[in-house]
Amino acid sequence: MEWGMRNRIARMFPAASQNTVMLAVDHGYFMGPTHGLEDPRATIAPLLPHADAIALTRGVLRACVPPESPTPIVLRVSGGATVLREDLSDETITVAMRDAARLNVSAVALSVFVGAPGEHRSLANLAKLVDEGQDAGIPVMAITAVGKELEKRDARYLSLACRVSAEIGAHLVKTYYCDGFEKVVEGCPVPLVVAGGPKLDSDRAALELAHAAIEAGAHGLDMGRNIWQSDHPVAMLKALRAIVHDRASVAEALDLVTEQVAGGPRANRPPVALAPGGRVAPPRPRASHR
Ligand code: R5P
Repeated sequence: MEWGMRNRIARMFPAASQNTVMLAVDHGYFMGPTHGLEDPRATIAPLLPHADAIALTRGVLRACVPPESPTPIVLRVSGGATVLREDLSDETITVAMRDAARLNVSAVALSVFVGAPGEHRSLANLAKLVDEGQDAGIPVMAITAVGKELEKRDARYLSLACRVSAEIGAHLVKTYYCDGFEKVVEGCPVPLVVAGGPKLDSDRAALELAHAAIEAGAHGLDMGRNIWQSDHPVAMLKALRAIVHDRASVAEALDLVTEQVAGGPRANRPPVALAPGGRVAPPRPRASHR
């Protein structure tokens, strides 16, 4: 792998943990002004300094992120269908690689719809993007989208979708957590990051999902609604960082949320204090991005 691509990947996975917490704010590309993200600039501003990368569209990047920001950009480059249609899988590539390069992004991301009517087109989009990314030194993240069929999120389906994405050449894959997620990790030779999906019942449930994903071998998160639809977005993002980078337990992460909200003793301390002695358990074997 060439220096430029390695550098872009390293910037998205900056910590000693080799994991990442990406902030996902790309939902508007097919959902419009989603709850919590009606004004992207206002949602993004307090969260941006705490994210390892931000995943968004070209339009929101230009309009809502200051060009001085050092946070790496993961640019969504697929789209073309909206929630008004039953089938969301009819996507095309919406951004030329040369514009992604001009925007100085750290990665481009597109959805693949395995098993959906748009399967072939989305996989062909991925192949084209990987070729163009190789030329530009820009890594490609495949997103194993399920459209409105959320029940597809099981280990058998996600293993297939992740593996196919990796075989075509995706450098990273974003997928969903599921029961038996270890199998998905095992079958995917490139690093996986996990989306949160629709808002869960509580902050605890979202922290549990993140904790289980990291324990099972995920390289991090690319999470949106369970952060910015929470009552405490910044505290949640910091708590997720503690899990992803410091292997904090769910209880420790929840304490951090409580203390941040109350402005307590840990409010301004880095989350690394949560995990004295570093990792609490040896990491599971997983694909390397270094
Ligand atoms: C779909 O809208 C995007 O790929 C999101 O970035 C992805 O689903 C992650 O966001 P969330 O955690 O809200 O599911």
